[in-house]
Amino acid sequence: MSDESPPKSAAGPPRLVCRCIGVASPRIIDAIQRDGLTCLEDVQKRVRAGTGCGTCHAEIEEIFADLHGQEVPKLTKLQNRQLCHTETVQRVEGSLYGGIVPKLADGTRVDLVAVKGLQIDLHLTPDDPEIRELIREKLCKFVCQDLLIRFS
Ligand code: FES
Repeated sequence: MSDESPPKSAAGPPRLVCRCIGVASPRIIDAIQRDGLTCLEDVQKRVRAGTGCGTCHAEIEEIFADLHGQEVPKLTKLQNRQLCHTETVQRVEGSLYGGIVPKLADGTRVDLVAVKGLQIDLHLTPDDPEIRELIREKLCKFVCQDLLIRFS
């Protein structure tokens, strides 16, 4: 491990930081480290995260603080995680039930079982490998390309 490795807390749980643009934390962390980004504006220019509504700015700042070994108050982290989770669920639900499911064959049912960071657990009835793939493709396109979509 080199001296330039970030502290363990830097990565945090992989998550969808910018819900507007669909940019996950590993992509932001990678851009900061690889390209030597130093501020929110750099992140906006390089990966477009934070160029929409702005509610992810606090979390991007948290990532910078983590990477620089600065203390981030637990309450700030908790608030960032709660907002991230709530908005990620909303984005997934909006894409699923607003755009994807209405176009599936009658009688096809998709239940959102859980959202854990970038992992999305779904239940598909009746099960169909082609429909699974279609849903994966659309959710990655509409929400974030880094989602891990699992079916039960
Ligand atoms: S969530 Fe990042 S700009 Fe809206």
